[in-house]
Amino acid sequence: MPLADCRIIDLPKITDVRGNLTFIEENRHVPFGIQRVYYLYDVPGGAERGGHAHKELHQLIVAMSGSFDVVLDDGREKKRFHLNRSYYGLYVCPMIWREIDNFSSGSVCMVLASNLYDESDYYREYSDFQAALRGRP
Ligand code: TYD
Repeated sequence: MPLADCRIIDLPKITDVRGNLTFIEENRHVPFGIQRVYYLYDVPGGAERGGHAHKELHQLIVAMSGSFDVVLDDGREKKRFHLNRSYYGLYVCPMIWREIDNFSSGSVCMVLASNLYDESDYYREYSDFQAALRGRP
């Protein structure tokens, strides 16, 4: 699926003087069922995460606190998204190479995922990802 399918999703936000509230429902606010949640935190300055693609996995990436950048690449073009609000989610479809960098101090990157952790779903080498896009094993 191409980069054009990846997009910022504007999540519901219930504003309240006591504090705002955002919620995410599977197959409604995200175009997939949610089987796993994980988060990156205590990220040291200058660190980069990601550096892989998934064969089947759909994900939504949310900056729960602070900010960071996500660079998406479908093998044809690259696009950098800056995430800095907990009511925006970046939907990442399968077969997209992603890098996450530019973490602010204290930032928390939460990811909702459509499947349980499965190492065999990863392309960890960019050359393997490119070969798969060309339809080669
Ligand atoms: P990885 O997906 O490579 O992290 P990132 O893309 O954020 O740099 O995962 C790092 C390690 O954590 C790797 O050894 C696999 C493990 N891991 C799990 O065990 N379960 C999970 O849900 C995730 C996302 C990672």
